[in-house]
Amino acid sequence: MSDSAAWNARYAAGPAMFGTAPNEFLTEQAHRLRPGMAALALGDGQGRNGIWLARQGLSVTALDWSDVGMAHAAEQAARAGVALRTVVADATSWDWPEAAFDLVAWIYVHLPPEDRALACAGVRRALKPGGLLVLECFSPAQEGRRSGGPREPALLWTRAIVEAEFPGFEVLALLEGAVRLDEGPKHQGLAEVVRAVLRRP
Ligand SMILES: C[S@@+](CC[C@H](N)C(=O)[O-])C[C@H]1O[C@@H](n2cnc3c(N)ncnc32)[C@H](O)[C@@H]1O
Repeated sequence: MSDSAAWNARYAAGPAMFGTAPNEFLTEQAHRLRPGMAALALGDGQGRNGIWLARQGLSVTALDWSDVGMAHAAEQAARAGVALRTVVADATSWDWPEAAFDLVAWIYVHLPPEDRALACAGVRRALKPGGLLVLECFSPAQEGRRSGGPREPALLWTRAIVEAEFPGFEVLALLEGAVRLDEGPKHQGLAEVVRAVLRRP
């Protein structure tokens, strides 16, 4: 089961499922960020990445279909004293704005292929020319590992999927391999991931 109700139940049970610190690969992109940039933290869950981006001075929209997650994110942002616009919406049917964001952070959002295609079309539309997509997701080699990720193999990412979903984008980084995760109780240990930084032409 993976729908907004399932994620609500998970977030109600665990206050910081993926930790409170931002994703490490996202933080490694800090040199590409400038205060005032408009960012979308897609599938931002409990808000750890959106809040970190807001702390860097970006103007951040955090989107997730879990209202429990987004309420937690809003509460944490207020506590941290940063502005965070939260949107409760399904990424497959959201009215994606056109050329609105300098950055989209897609961190561990795993969707069925048809839904993934819809959300990727949204990202292509919503990035400004020159805007960046930063993505980290589990790859097929993660199957069977206990360090996190979805059970359905179709939800996993490959370099080829990244290339197919974002044709014409400049590839600034695109890696498929092992990393060591330390992100709350749900992402712990050696993990097989895809990491990408792409620029919209
Ligand atoms: C593994 S969690 C990662 C959360 C966050 N990105 C992080 O790294 O802490 C995946 C998130 O994607 C959200 N999600 C999954 N499908 C979605 C959809 N169709 N629309 C919006 N959010 C979705 C879930 O609610 C969940 O918060």
